[in-house]
Amino acid sequence: MKNLLHIGASVRPYHLEETEHQSISRMLAMTFIEQFRESYKQTEVIQRDLSVTPPAYIDQRFVAASFAKGELSPEEQSVLAESDRLIAEVVDADIILISSPMYNYGMPAVLKAWFDQIIRIDKTFSFDLARGDNPLRPILKGKQLVLLASWGEFDFLKGQSKYAFNHLSSHIEQLAPYLGAEQFYEIASEYQEFDDQRHEQSKARAIANAKTLARDLALA
Ligand SMILES: Cc1cc2nc3c(=O)[nH]c(=O)nc-3n(C[C@H](O)[C@H](O)[C@H](O)COP(=O)(O)O)c2cc1C
Repeated sequence: MKNLLHIGASVRPYHLEETEHQSISRMLAMTFIEQFRESYKQTEVIQRDLSVTPPAYIDQRFVAASFAKGELSPEEQSVLAESDRLIAEVVDADIILISSPMYNYGMPAVLKAWFDQIIRIDKTFSFDLARGDNPLRPILKGKQLVLLASWGEFDFLKGQSKYAFNHLSSHIEQLAPYLGAEQFYEIASEYQEFDDQRHEQSKARAIANAKTLARDLALA
């Protein structure tokens, strides 16, 4: 059995029957999941749609409760209940699939809110000043993180001219170890705003790459 957790961050939906204003990143995720299931029949998929159920923003009560020592009070437990649920989904996952648009050169606010709920002391990372200048250490291990992205402009991929503007992929790659991810993969469809042949080619390439990666990870 392989557990695949899909985190969808686009405000746009994706439905097979509709054609206009559909999410490209969600379409890539659906392509990936279908191929993964076909290649590995015993796949359990958990869908978490952040646009339908946005995670709460963390606040002072959250931080206080997450750093509290010993037995938690009922109030602290209730403040951390959402975080506990979201972390449990990550713990159970073998593959974490994040499908996300680029908004304002970074990740959508709902996705950042999700990371803020997940990356929690003594749950997903430990903190020890005895480690000197690098006191944080990830706790979870053995997972793979796949980012399926879409953006309107182009040349944002690693090694390309506008990679420095891409705070979506680099941010998620930096956070990947705190989800227990030992590998980070990225596939992106570019040029959405131009709606031209370059966009069609980029989208087709992203679909093909998503299928290949899904097959490779399913059979690994
Ligand atoms: C609020 C908003 C902000 C955006 N910011 C950027 C941006 O900074 N750079 C970019 O290349 N595209 C940007 N876009 C274009 C989206 O990344 C593009 O439409 C993408 O296809 C959205 O993903 P989706 O199709 O999965 O919804 C933005 C779109 C919206 C709605």
